[in-house]
Amino acid sequence: MAILVTGGAGYIGSHTCVELLEAGKEVVVLDNLSNSSEKSLERVEKITGKKVTFYKGDILDRDILNKIFEKEQIECCIHFAGLKAVGESVAKPWEYYENNIAGTLTLVDVMRQNDCKNIIFSSSATVYGDPAQIPITEECPKGQCTNPYGWTKSMLEQILSDMQKADPEWNVILLRYFNPIGAHQSGTMGENPNGIPNNLMPYITQVAVGKLKELGVFGDDYDTPDGTGVRDYIHVVGLAVGHVKALKKIEEKAGLCIYNLGTGHGYSVLDIVKNFEAANDIEIPYVIKERRPGDIATCYCDPSKAERELGWKAQYGIREMCADSWRWQKNNPNGYEEDLKTK
Ligand code: NAD
Ligand code: UFG
Repeated sequence: MAILVTGGAGYIGSHTCVELLEAGKEVVVLDNLSNSSEKSLERVEKITGKKVTFYKGDILDRDILNKIFEKEQIECCIHFAGLKAVGESVAKPWEYYENNIAGTLTLVDVMRQNDCKNIIFSSSATVYGDPAQIPITEECPKGQCTNPYGWTKSMLEQILSDMQKADPEWNVILLRYFNPIGAHQSGTMGENPNGIPNNLMPYITQVAVGKLKELGVFGDDYDTPDGTGVRDYIHVVGLAVGHVKALKKIEEKAGLCIYNLGTGHGYSVLDIVKNFEAANDIEIPYVIKERRPGDIATCYCDPSKAERELGWKAQYGIREMCADSWRWQKNNPNGYEEDLKTK
């Protein structure tokens, strides 16, 4: 039996493939490579010494989904595939709803037709909107999203929950990620954004490597200890391990479960800059800019439910996250575009 990993060539998906293979699972990836490179899967194979079965295709394409379910013995789908750029989603809402919502509806329809009713879904802390409480527990009510990307996550959570309620044969695990950063410790896999990064850590690493001049810090007048935004940064390898734990829960007949995956610690933008500088002995020039529209002051979780029910805990600290992000960027200044530097 195999695990279907949609979006498995992407940042979180590729790291999860490594952990799945190392846990002895067979992995089948479906990815249209709209935001990734097949090279990430070569690196997965190199790290693990195991094969990944790769299908280049779209979750909106029933034919390729049917072909996969015909040829492979799929026991569960870990569903990462989706568009995720917040700003782009404001400019192209239809494209986001089509890709993320229609894509997921197509995927789960083909899954149920093939009697595979186990899914782990990549959700996000964004569904809490401006959170009603800090730290955020899973009981915290979902909020008003500030962009179409966030709404796709919130709506898909609702859709998958309603399907599970109507047909209890479904096992649905919704994983709400906080802020994934870091990279595989080998320095051969990591985040590979297109164009100028929107997120904090890739922006910092591109300043460090000399591709960008300085970091813009979006606001220093928030109600936080140093005035800059506070987030719950989680190492992508720890996050990937969370999926292996969730898979075990699926095997035990999970029904519907929701988990926050974060560390429970909040770091400000300036904390991240200082930790990056200290971990890597590099200076990151920055300037304070206006607040970014849609940003909130503070967002970190209470991850104790995942520890209690999945036996999962974030295992890496902020210095490791900063060191691993930098190792990846330094070794691969152009991401997966060039072959790996040898030194
Ligand atoms: P990513 O862009 O690196 O990976 C997503 C992958 O899905 C890419 O490889 C892309 O090519 C593929 N894809 C997109 N649309 C597809 C389609 N229609 N058919 C097939 N493949 C398709 O992003 P990531 O950071 O690895 O995120 C993975 C998932 O986690 C996404 O659903 C994202 O929304 C969610 N998430 C990410 C974060 C984050 O900060 N990175 C936070 C919360 C949730
Ligand atoms: N920031 C800067 N300068 C930058 C980029 C970011 O100061 O160049 C600040 C932001 O204002 C924020 C913090 O750094 O205070 C983190 O910003 P990110 O863009 O890295 O992350 P967000 O918390 O805004 O959002 C991310 C994903 C969302 C996801 C959310 C929770 O982009 O899709 O984490 O998982 F929903």
